[in-house]
Amino acid sequence: MRLIHVVLGLASLTGTIASLVTNSEAVLHDPASKRAEWPYTPHVTSGRWIRDSTGKNVTYAGTNWPGHTDVMIPEGLQYQSIAFIVNKIKSLGMNTVRLTFAIQMVDEIYSNGGKDITLQRAFVQALGQTNGTRVLNQVLAKNPNLTASTTRLEVFDLVAAELAKQQIYIVLDNHISKGMWCCSGTDGNTWWGDTYFHAGNWTRGLAYMANHAKSWPAVTALSLRNEPREPSNNANLARTSYNWQSWYTYMKQGATAVATANPDLLIVLSGLNYDTTITPVVQNTALTPGNGRYNPSDFPANKIVLELHNYETSANNCNNLQGNLLRNGFNALSGTTPNVFPVMLTEFGFQMDANTWRNTYSTCLASFVTTQKAGWMIWVLAGSYYIRSGTQDYDENWGLMNHNWSDWRSPSYVNGLLLNMVKGTLS
Ligand SMILES: *[C@@H]1O[C@H](CO)[C@@H](O)[C@H](O)[C@H]1NC(C)=O
Ligand SMILES: *[C@@H]1O[C@H](CO)[C@@H](O)[C@H](O)[C@H]1NC(C)=O
Ligand SMILES: *[C@@H]1O[C@H](CO)[C@@H](O)[C@H](O)[C@H]1NC(C)=O
Ligand SMILES: *[C@@H]1O[C@H](CO)[C@@H](O)[C@H](O)[C@H]1NC(C)=O
Ligand SMILES: *[C@@H]1O[C@H](CO)[C@@H](O)[C@H](O)[C@H]1NC(C)=O
Repeated sequence: MRLIHVVLGLASLTGTIASLVTNSEAVLHDPASKRAEWPYTPHVTSGRWIRDSTGKNVTYAGTNWPGHTDVMIPEGLQYQSIAFIVNKIKSLGMNTVRLTFAIQMVDEIYSNGGKDITLQRAFVQALGQTNGTRVLNQVLAKNPNLTASTTRLEVFDLVAAELAKQQIYIVLDNHISKGMWCCSGTDGNTWWGDTYFHAGNWTRGLAYMANHAKSWPAVTALSLRNEPREPSNNANLARTSYNWQSWYTYMKQGATAVATANPDLLIVLSGLNYDTTITPVVQNTALTPGNGRYNPSDFPANKIVLELHNYETSANNCNNLQGNLLRNGFNALSGTTPNVFPVMLTEFGFQMDANTWRNTYSTCLASFVTTQKAGWMIWVLAGSYYIRSGTQDYDENWGLMNHNWSDWRSPSYVNGLLLNMVKGTLS
């Protein structure tokens, strides 16, 4: 999610947790072997389709559940239980959650002798002593399975286990390096080499999470990096590195790290300019400023999926909007481009109220993804954030959920369009 779009109007419980997780029936199977039951992993690509292990085409339709901001756990748990939130997602018929995480979480595990930090520490670190303690207590009251000494990663484990229980796939997404609201050109997380975005920490973090997610039956895919973008406050880095050639070098490193740690995962590649274009990969043109081109043998076979974001929220011509999407990479779905991939719209979103959803942007995207049978995840599930850009209990007026995560923020959108968008995609 790019902040500027809003501005422009455009665009030790360890034992308990371990037993909860190991007792859930889905993990009794060896995650490396083919599953004879949902989620029929590993998923693979076949041309423009994602297929499960039975050979059935699968399209992912769902929502983004952020877990990458300052506290670095999935949002909303001070208001509702994990099970309640997953129930709400399931009630829409959605089959996928794009679950975001920050590399900083993994960095801190390494700095802390291999052990993740506790919720107690995470909340106080992010919200201060008084509010951190208060909000933690709210989380514990709503989620009796958690304690102050549960770690952040154990919260992810419980979320992943509940998603598996309710048969919802997880696309794990590295959203940012430093845990905070994303994304701007000056946030230090723009590009490899930016203030907080260390390439070595990144590949280490990807490998760690890919390996860790072997214990999550529902995870099918890992997105290497959300919205690569130009570092607009670092002219030297922008000039020397912000280009397709460097992008390709880093994406190969990320894909290798993930595939080595967990060869079952699909690997999702996000394009330049806030993931709004991935054209050279689809059209097999030069990865400039070099002459190299996308080479399938640089990546694990039948595992690469592309993702694009769109925040042209003031669009007033559906043909133009769809033309942009196709040109920027979705034409890979036609099967007629030089390189063919599944392509997913992993972010789009708009203000949740009685009428915004009726506009060209929202209705046009709904018709696009259902016609194309393209995967999609709406930004964003969160009705509020523990903290966003320094404001605690930040109200998210783009959130599917209302502020206290008790119900939909815009029931008219859910009933008037979203339910049909899910159905139309998955039918
Ligand atoms: C998957 O989609 C492709 C392309 O439409 C189609 O040829 C194939 O039959 C589908 N496979 C299944 C199992 O539905
Ligand atoms: C947590 O505990 C409650 C029982 O208090 C249970 O009903 C719920 O499903 C558990 N799990 C989650 C993920 O909320
Ligand atoms: C702590 O929480 C209160 C109540 O939500 C809020 O008014 C206050 O601004 C918060 N403190 C900080 C430092 O954000
Ligand atoms: C990389 O991780 C280490 C901990 O292993 C941390 O000290 C360092 O600050 C991280 N680098 C960046 C750029 O965040
Ligand atoms: C949650 O928010 C809704 C809608 O704003 C409100 O009607 C309800 O009373 C709130 N519930 C609680 C427990 O605060």
